Amino acid sequence: MERTQVAIIGAGPAGLLLGQLLARAGIENIILEQRSADYVLGRIRAGVLEQGAVDLLREAGVGERLAREGLVHDGIELCFDGERHRIDLRGHTGKAVTVYGQTEVTRDLMQARQEIGAITRYEAEDVSLHGVDGVNPVVRYRWQGSVRELACEFVAGCDGFHGVSRASVPSQVLRTYERVYPFGWLGVLSETPPVSEELIYAHHPRGFALCSMRSRTRSRYYVQCSLEDRVEAWSDDRFWDELRQRLDARAAAALVTGPSIEKSIAPLRSFVAEPMRHGRLFLAGDAAHIVPPTGAKGLNLAASDVHYLSSGLVDWYRRGDSLGLDHYSERALRRVWKAERFSWWMTSLLHRFPEVSPFEQRLQRAELDYLVHSAAAAGALAENYVGLPY
Ligand code: APR
Ligand code: PHB
Repeated sequence: MERTQVAIIGAGPAGLLLGQLLARAGIENIILEQRSADYVLGRIRAGVLEQGAVDLLREAGVGERLAREGLVHDGIELCFDGERHRIDLRGHTGKAVTVYGQTEVTRDLMQARQEIGAITRYEAEDVSLHGVDGVNPVVRYRWQGSVRELACEFVAGCDGFHGVSRASVPSQVLRTYERVYPFGWLGVLSETPPVSEELIYAHHPRGFALCSMRSRTRSRYYVQCSLEDRVEAWSDDRFWDELRQRLDARAAAALVTGPSIEKSIAPLRSFVAEPMRHGRLFLAGDAAHIVPPTGAKGLNLAASDVHYLSSGLVDWYRRGDSLGLDHYSERALRRVWKAERFSWWMTSLLHRFPEVSPFEQRLQRAELDYLVHSAAAAGALAENYVGLPY
């Protein structure tokens, strides 16, 4: 039977970042990932990093390309009633965010892992966890046609929302909290210059829209869509027309369109599982919680979980100090719930909800108006958007 200190399930940003921080601290780990490396790299996801995530990636040794190619944004724009209003992130908080695609974060981490020679088993099938409530957990899986066993001291469940780790916690000890929103986001990636220097979050009677980017020549756009919508029904032309309608006249006129490189629909969900630890199994990232993308917190929460978990494991292996591990769930969840609140609030503020009363519609407009005319309200948005220190 193969042995390691920490078995990590999932090679998304959470698993890869944890693996890198542990390996640099001399803690052995093996990652088991059910998909291929190409599949993992082909997923287009979020793109906004808080300073804490940037710092952690630097600590993991993958800060170089990020520093060179990441775009530092000092503000974001809110657009409604045909006008744009800037939220000055730097002015309110002294901090900024960095726009750098999750795909690039993943690519950098995969390369760094390969360079240090740590093991990742891609296409590991039928992963199952055993004995996590004792001191000698075993992970069983099928790889290249044969069943294998990995003995370890800890299991890190970094296998996303649909993974096996959360499902391995007995239902009596796990509490879950969930909200499913009655709409989705249709996203398009295109090799076109971004419509504006900063991100535009637009509220419009036709629905929410977001103008984001990956670089100075590559854009990422989203429009709120119905859950019944199928991506095949959205030609590029239909997408660009819809997006243009939801923006202010200046942005609509400046929008450069082109063929889509990727187009997909994602549902919006808020979800939290508590606690984030069961015996020697620790959940991190999307395995434990989901936020709707409106607040750009998904990747940042994965990073903050990994920060708490890696420092807990380092303290344990260096000094036999279990305090960090004992407090992991509580510390991570305090931050998770702050991000859940903010993401839910940003989602409620900016989307068109089917079946809301005229009274609620007016309240939503009043809240937007308040936000752009009150320094305190804009400051609160800015503080949450740039994120709290770990
Ligand atoms: N066995 C092994 N690997 C698995 C299993 C399984 N049973 N189930 C899922 N996985 C893998 C997935 O293929 C994926 O590569 O676990 C990985 C989980 O990665 P992510 O879904 O990217 O989750 P996480 O690393 O927590 O990153 C969170 O990703 O979804 C975005 O917006 C989210 O930005 C956030 C970030
Ligand atoms: C993205 O660039 O994909 C993105 C940016 C900001 C968000 C969500 C997604 O709030």
